[in-house]
Amino acid sequence: MQTVIVVYSRTGNTLKVAQALAGILGAEIAEIRCQRNYDGAVGFLRGAMDSVMRRKPSIDVAQVVAQPHDLMVIAGPVWTGRAAAPLMAFLAGRPKLPGRVALLLTHGGSNPAKALAEVETLVGAPLAARLALKEADIKGDRFSAPLTDFAREAIGEADLPLIG
Ligand SMILES: Cc1cc2nc3c(=O)[nH]c(=O)nc-3n(C[C@H](O)[C@H](O)[C@H](O)COP(=O)(O)O)c2cc1C
Repeated sequence: MQTVIVVYSRTGNTLKVAQALAGILGAEIAEIRCQRNYDGAVGFLRGAMDSVMRRKPSIDVAQVVAQPHDLMVIAGPVWTGRAAAPLMAFLAGRPKLPGRVALLLTHGGSNPAKALAEVETLVGAPLAARLALKEADIKGDRFSAPLTDFAREAIGEADLPLIG
């Protein structure tokens, strides 16, 4: 199954999980790069404001996303209760999505239900799988079991042996 993981990560939590998932699925990673500076404390506030105001920053994504895939995993952090602004900018660009789309969000501990639901609406079809992981569990390397379950659900073949 040809899989691409489209990921935005400001501080590395989501990227860490995306890299583990890429190992499980044998997937390519396409990072969303953002021209807007979200670094440091000022960047944090800018990110929070952009999320609240629903601003869509300019982004670049590797061309690999435009190639045909069977599964796309969209991954990024929660900002102010929503999927982070760069991820929302990616979806607002109406990317060509494959038949199977799965969503992976990371967060600091607040309920991610609204962010998951909002992305599913933008995708326009039921998600093949969804997972929200807490930052503390990522930093503590306590995400392997839920990530493996997510990977199996995403590919839709529970008995298929996974790589890694
Ligand atoms: C601007 C901003 C807003 C955030 N808002 C929330 C939030 O509403 N709820 C939450 O649980 N975590 C929130 N977080 C924490 C991140 O979701 C969490 O640290 C995430 O794992 C960061 O992923 P990353 O390292 O891939 O960027 C926020 C972080 C930032 C930078």
